[in-house]
Parts: sequence; C-alpha cells; structure tokens
Amino acid sequence: MDGKFISFEGPDGAGKTSVIQQIQQQLEDQLGTEKVMYTREPGGNKISEQIRQVLFDGQNTDMDGRTEALLFAAARRQHIVSEIIPGLKAGRVILCDRFVDSSIAYQGAGRGLGEKEIWQINQFAIDGLMPSLTIYLDIESEIGLRRIAEHRSNQINRLDKEKLAFHQTVRQSYLKLYKNYPERIKLIDASQPLEKVIEDVKATIHDRFSDLF
Ligand code: TYD
Repeated sequence: MDGKFISFEGPDGAGKTSVIQQIQQQLEDQLGTEKVMYTREPGGNKISEQIRQVLFDGQNTDMDGRTEALLFAAARRQHIVSEIIPGLKAGRVILCDRFVDSSIAYQGAGRGLGEKEIWQINQFAIDGLMPSLTIYLDIESEIGLRRIAEHRSNQINRLDKEKLAFHQTVRQSYLKLYKNYPERIKLIDASQPLEKVIEDVKATIHDRFSDLF
C-alpha cells in the first residue's frame, strides 16, 4: 500500500483538533486535496459514527467498561476496512484523529481494564495494521482540563466528564506507550503556543517522510 498512515493522540484538551486541521490544510496545499484524508475515531464512516453515538450518549451512564472497549474496537475495525485501507491503497496521506493508543490509554489504563487486555482485543480488530507514525500531543492533565472548560464547555461529552485522576492515569499510560515505542510514537509538547506545536509536528512528520513538508 502506497499511502502514509499517521495517527494523532493525546489526552483531552491537548489541542489535537486544531493541530490536525492546520496540518491537513497545509498538506492539502502541498499535495492537493485528493491526496490527503482526515478521519477520526471513533467514527469516520456511517457504521462507526453510529457506534460513536452509542458510546457518547449522555444517557448511557450504566455502560460497562468492557462493552465500551469492545465498541471502540468494533468502530475501529469498520473504520480500517471502509476508510483506512482504501485510502492507503489510493496512496493518500491519512491523518487519523486517535487510533489504538487511545483505547490502551483510556480503556486499558483510565478505566482500569488492563493495557495488555485492551491491546489483545484490538489486535483482533486491527489485524496487523498500525500507523507508521504517531504524533503524541502531550499536556499536563490540569492544563488540558482547564482548556476544555474554557473553550468548549458546550461540547463536553460523557468521557470528558471523568475526574482529574482519570486524566492523569490516561496521560501516564500515553507516556508509557511513548517510552515503549519510541520508533513509532513521537512526543510533542502541546503546552507551547499553537504555532510552535504545529512547527514541531511538521518537522516530526518531515523526519519520517522526507517528501512531506
Ligand atoms: P472526541 O469528541 O473525538 O474528542 P477529542 O477531540 O478529544 O478526540 O472524543 C473522543 C473521546 O473518546 C476522548 O475522550 C477519548 C475517547 N476515546 C476512548 O476512550 N477510546 C478510544 O479508543 C478512542 C478512539 C477515543
């Protein structure tokens, strides 16, 4: 497959959405819109967006942790088959907003289901497909949560409402993943001003794919 698979990760409030938007825009300017694809998890296609609605429905307060993990993995599987693989075959640069590391950090560590266990169920879902590069936007939990409260109080979903301790556990899990997979995962300090974060992300992408940026 000719395309390039890049995932973006980070705790809530790291500014991931703004960063990806700008990276997408600049890549499209460079390569043309048909060569770049933005997609997000959970979601990215009709079936996965439907699963997303179940996951984020504020009324589903009694959702079991394993149910949640399996739904994320199911949404991921469908996303891979209907979006990611066709995009890679078409030679596109795929900018994927969250992928399997999110499940390991949020469900595995945050919900305490076990990072190893979550990795195992996700191996069935991904069937060997991993991003070549993962941009991890790192932010201290207090700052991340403050940003959410300031900027998008109208958008807080069921999972955002978790307590500070949950967010800290999620971040520690990301940091562990970064330590364990230094080849794939690159850490960017997301507490910097947005322009500097974007500069760092571009340089990191260029290091891995010299024909980009
Ligand atoms: P979303 O509204 O897409 O926000 P963000 O801009 O932070 O990505 O919500 C994604 C939420 O879903 C976020 O709180 C992390 C969570 N999530 C998991 O818990 N597990 C997963 O596997 C994925 C993909 C996301």
